[in-house]
Amino acid sequence: MSSAIRAVRGMNDILPGESDKWGYFEDTIRTWLATYGYRNLRTPVVEQTDLFVRSIGSVTDIVEKEMYTFIDHLNGEQLTLRPEGTASCVRAVIEHNLLYTGPQRLYYSGPMFRHERPQKGRYRQFHQVGVEALGFAGPDIDAEHIIMCARLWRLLDITPVRLEIGTLGNLESRTIYRARLINYLERFTDQLDEDARRRLHSNPLRILDSKNPAVQELLKDAPRLFDDLDEESLAHFESLQTILRNRGVDFTINPRLVRGLDYYNRTVFEWVSDRLGAQGTICAGGRYDGLIAQVGGKPAPACGFAMGIERILALMADLNGIYTANRPDVYVVHQGEMATGFAWEVAEYLRDQGVKVILHNGAGAFKGQMKKADASGAQFAAIIGDDEAQVRKISLKPLREPAEQVSVDMAEISILVRKINPTKN
Ligand code: HAM
Repeated sequence: MSSAIRAVRGMNDILPGESDKWGYFEDTIRTWLATYGYRNLRTPVVEQTDLFVRSIGSVTDIVEKEMYTFIDHLNGEQLTLRPEGTASCVRAVIEHNLLYTGPQRLYYSGPMFRHERPQKGRYRQFHQVGVEALGFAGPDIDAEHIIMCARLWRLLDITPVRLEIGTLGNLESRTIYRARLINYLERFTDQLDEDARRRLHSNPLRILDSKNPAVQELLKDAPRLFDDLDEESLAHFESLQTILRNRGVDFTINPRLVRGLDYYNRTVFEWVSDRLGAQGTICAGGRYDGLIAQVGGKPAPACGFAMGIERILALMADLNGIYTANRPDVYVVHQGEMATGFAWEVAEYLRDQGVKVILHNGAGAFKGQMKKADASGAQFAAIIGDDEAQVRKISLKPLREPAEQVSVDMAEISILVRKINPTKN
């Protein structure tokens, strides 16, 4: 026997038990996004490598060491599995001239790929829901994004989640700050680690995010970007805070909040849970007013965020019975030639009525079939023997509550299912 082939490291199967929870999350997300007027965009999983280099930035962890890049041997093109969704969204918006009809509220959802060291909450294939608002300049849309996140945490019952916000100012203020930071850090070159030394002249702001305690110690007295902020960015940041306060959204200002992608300016934010250990950031984003022009479009402001679905699901309670969207309503148990024929008829009739049905496959004693009915999570077992089939009746046994078994006909079953599950139309 040859050895079994396993999934690629850091890339996971989502098995049926778990996927009920994914289904519940996806249903909640779809309604939540619709209530804020966001529409779905679906882009390919593979893009030209250059798109990510140009947007995320060549001196970032993602582009330097985490991208799945390969040559398409049929035409020599260099391609990359998308490590995030904003770049693809911006590319598609430019390519299809979507801003022609005015600003756009868009969202996407799907797998992203980063060659990171796998650990709890960090995978090589992971999933994001991303939200992008393109063509909006004001802080009200930054606030809308944060407020809609706060609503989602309540809907999913995953509070408390901490909000950190910061501002990166405009390009000019960052250029001034960059020079001041380099100037400061150059005095300690010998104390910087290899990573920080390499970034000192190419991307010094990334050093602020260093995980090395020795580097963090040095940064304590480093100049602060806040001191170099331009007036407009400061006003933008103030307005954002006012809206959040008025809406009762708690936040802390983190002056060192630098993101792992280079396209941001002005507002940046992260939602962090303390229940997830090292990988506690469940959602992050900010403004990227320069990106559309950088990718070749007509300049237009924009902002957005993305959440890591695996991390959010890890925060959602595993309460049995809550994530029942994909569970059957009825499990049909049958024994005898006539009974089986009738069972097929009942199952198809109920499906016509929108009832979710599992028809027991194969033969087997009633007892064994009932065990399967119970394990399926169904609300009812519909029990059919030849006696029942003869008079076109079904013994309906509630499986999740201590009610009596009743003898009913087909039409009555769908009425009873609807009584228990009134959301069914
Ligand atoms: P990001 O911070 O790189 O931003 O990723 C957003 C979220 O994706 C993270 O907060 C985290 O929850 C999740 N995530 C990232 N990497 C992994 C991983 N290896 N395993 C599991 N989850 C992960 C972006 O991707 C930006 N495109 C967000 C954005 C949208 N900014 C503006 N618009």
